[in-house]
Amino acid sequence: MTQPGGADAPIEGGLVAEVEQMSAEERAEHFAEVAEVVAPDREISVDMGQTLLELDELTVQFGGLVALDHVSFSIKRGEILGLIGPNGAGKTTCFNAMTGVYRPTSGRVLLEDKPLGKAARHKITQLGIARTFQNIRLFAEMTALENVVVGADARHSTSVVGALLRLPKHHKEEKEAVDRAMALLEFVGIADRAAEKAKNLPYGYQRRLEIARALATEPKLLCLDEPAAGFNPAEKEELMGLIRTIRDDGYTVLLIEHDMKLVMGVTDRIVVLEFGKKIAEGVPAEIRENPAVIAAYLGVPDDDVA
Ligand SMILES: Nc1ncnc2c1ncn2[C@@H]1O[C@H](COP(=O)(O)OP(=O)(O)OP(=O)(O)O)[C@@H](O)[C@H]1O
Ligand SMILES: [Mg+2]
Repeated sequence: MTQPGGADAPIEGGLVAEVEQMSAEERAEHFAEVAEVVAPDREISVDMGQTLLELDELTVQFGGLVALDHVSFSIKRGEILGLIGPNGAGKTTCFNAMTGVYRPTSGRVLLEDKPLGKAARHKITQLGIARTFQNIRLFAEMTALENVVVGADARHSTSVVGALLRLPKHHKEEKEAVDRAMALLEFVGIADRAAEKAKNLPYGYQRRLEIARALATEPKLLCLDEPAAGFNPAEKEELMGLIRTIRDDGYTVLLIEHDMKLVMGVTDRIVVLEFGKKIAEGVPAEIRENPAVIAAYLGVPDDDVA
């Protein structure tokens, strides 16, 4: 297996150490520069507001169970779209159908007006959809940095296995890959633990690492499946801040999140699913007042609905 800098080479500590010495202001400035480094080739804001992804009457059935039932909605470039609904509503199934994990029983997913059809998962990654998982999936034995380097590779190679087995790259190319991965770790705020194995990272770091790895594929659309699950309120707020920064940097974000208060605070629009059907769509203020949504969430403590 090829690993950046050789199997046991220490990660160059200079950058991390430098950041730790910075004042909050210097850090903010530095991170703005880092954001440029992270995805230099990405076209941003070119046609902000146009439809990026469209679900057209998407249906996914598991045997007799209809997990998604003729669901249609679209995601506009540059927005943060919330996807909410009670447990089992079909939110994760939606991600799975969009990213090629499940084949739709009927209906279509279109990215930039082109149907994804039967495109395989890695192809969909290359086309520009990246995701994180409700249950964290990282390469446990790889360092944080290596996890991101592999993520970046997923964009170019045919499979992650291919990425792992690939021949050593030229030194310069490899250094660039490591620099970019490091910049991404800084961007999500976990560069101080870059050299640690993913399995040894604190839970919150693992969640952020998943985001960094997804960003490494330079996606047009970043799909986050309950990225703040298990976080305390302060950690959730911080993560929502990061999601806003990601959007401000030109990405489009689809966010599944259970905490209604957070969803209302961070999203531009919201789509609500219940029992596999779309029951509402609108800006947060509309969703908050929507009787069908209120009914779907009856029994949820007031704190979560506020
Ligand atoms: N692979 C599968 N095989 C069979 N049923 C499945 C499968 N995946 C999901 N389901 C079912 O589809 C329905 C929707 O599940 P899904 O995971 O999409 O819900 P969700 O909205 O993400 O819920 P949660 O908030 O609990 O994560 C559920 O009834 C679930 O049990
Ligand atoms: Mg789910």
